[in-house]
Amino acid sequence: MASDSSAKPRSLVPQPCQLVIFGAPGDLAWRKLLPAVYNLNVDGLLPSHFAVVGFGLPAEGSIKGDPDEYLRERAKGGISRFSRQALDESHWADFTRSLFFVAGSFNDTRAYAQLKAKLDANDIQFGIPGARVFYLAVPPSLVGMCVAKLQQAGLVTSPDETTAFTRVIVEKPIGHDLASAREIIAQVASAFDESQTYRIDHYLGKETVQNLLVLRFANSIFEPLWNGKYIDHVQITVAEEEGLVQYDADSGEMLGTRAGYYEGVGAMRDMMQNHMLQVLCVVAMEPPWSLAPDIVRDAKASVLNCLRPIDIAEIDRTVVRGQYIEGDVHGRRVPGYRKEVRDSFSSMGKPLPQESVNSTTETFVAMKLFIDNWRWSGVPFYLRTGKRLPKRSSEVAIQFKAVPQVLFNHSPEVPLEPTVLSLRVQPEEGLAMRIASKLPGPKVRIYPVQMEFNYSQSLGGPSPEAYERLLLDVMAGDATLFLRRDAVEAAWKFVMPLLDYWQRQRVRDLPEYQCGTWGPCEADRIIEADGRQWRTL
Ligand code: BG6
Repeated sequence: MASDSSAKPRSLVPQPCQLVIFGAPGDLAWRKLLPAVYNLNVDGLLPSHFAVVGFGLPAEGSIKGDPDEYLRERAKGGISRFSRQALDESHWADFTRSLFFVAGSFNDTRAYAQLKAKLDANDIQFGIPGARVFYLAVPPSLVGMCVAKLQQAGLVTSPDETTAFTRVIVEKPIGHDLASAREIIAQVASAFDESQTYRIDHYLGKETVQNLLVLRFANSIFEPLWNGKYIDHVQITVAEEEGLVQYDADSGEMLGTRAGYYEGVGAMRDMMQNHMLQVLCVVAMEPPWSLAPDIVRDAKASVLNCLRPIDIAEIDRTVVRGQYIEGDVHGRRVPGYRKEVRDSFSSMGKPLPQESVNSTTETFVAMKLFIDNWRWSGVPFYLRTGKRLPKRSSEVAIQFKAVPQVLFNHSPEVPLEPTVLSLRVQPEEGLAMRIASKLPGPKVRIYPVQMEFNYSQSLGGPSPEAYERLLLDVMAGDATLFLRRDAVEAAWKFVMPLLDYWQRQRVRDLPEYQCGTWGPCEADRIIEADGRQWRTL
């Protein structure tokens, strides 16, 4: 078996291959994956020999004639709405020549035979040496079946293959809890070696998250201060304006819903267990001694292993969840979560599950946690994420300790604003440093000023989407930004006591917040009790 423990960083050249998207008719492929591949095509970054094959079963009646045309049309719609770079006819024509679709159900053996035939034919047509990347954009419950069928169909090559390689990308959420995550990990491992497995968390592909490593380890001024001696606390916020349902801005008509996935999952499993904890790892990790995939992943995993276990006796002081209710977003009335769930199920023609009648799925969660190691001893990390907040805005803010009370901040009426380094993950990626400065004039008056760096202004153009970078990494065989199984398990282990407690609690209602506000007022309690405040974004 090939080992993934090499200490050498891999080369970043994507190798000729076919990208096979399981669940190509779905939301992720439409909004993120196909636009990402299109952008890579426009930027000339795809391998010289390359094709995309979508696989899955679209809603009945969606395929009118040629299945390839079905996917091309759908991709065009997604790209024109969501692509970073506008749809351009000449690039589109080029892209569309290598875009195909095989319609079939994930449990249908014949569909896999058709898929194999299509891939073999494409290998010949495009001069591809049998290399395939399978992207499983499917619900966690289907992952095991897909990998087993791939193996039965003879679509998995040995991990030692370097040109006719097979790699699999597994989307989050990996499971619903620790036990199901372990099951999925084992199912994938029964067909694929760890070196062939790429567990994706797209937050790790975001430019600003990657820049955190560069900021910390390529500049000499930050790392000496990056510890509990100088840092008062850290805040990580991922605020989303979108909710469960997308509406047409003019007509208010329902355009799409994620209820089928999100209801019963909630913010803790959807965002906190993965994206937020992964960002936390990048903020808090020790300097890795090399950029080799496993060395970086060791450093991140050790943060998760040092998280102080959640103490259920303290839960009221450390964790708050909430659910949005009807409110105004940019002057438009938006229904509450429970109504959106009801509307979504009826629009999908599905009966509303009993437990969703008065859903207690959280759409907001805030928590305070500690990393019990030498560097972070005593430093609180405050994390919050929610849907239908006033705007889409995500940042990591490092607040430094106050200077001694001797020179400028001796008057309690005019406290000095603390120094804050904030990294904007999105939108308008960049960073800002708030420092104290003297106002011009004869008196010593102190005023906070911002030093700003904006990615697109300073470095030209919007940053590539996370999925672009991550797809290229898989084609190049670089697993640095992907989750190892120990990290997935450690993150689940951390949140499980809380999830189990919530399940035992069986509350009838959650703290509420109106759409377009910053979450339930209870969320303020966990930070204000420490004499601190959430940042205004
Ligand atoms: C996904 C979650 O992983 O990330 C969604 O399932 C969430 O609920 C999305 O909206 C946020 O990603 P981004 O890149 O838009 O911040």
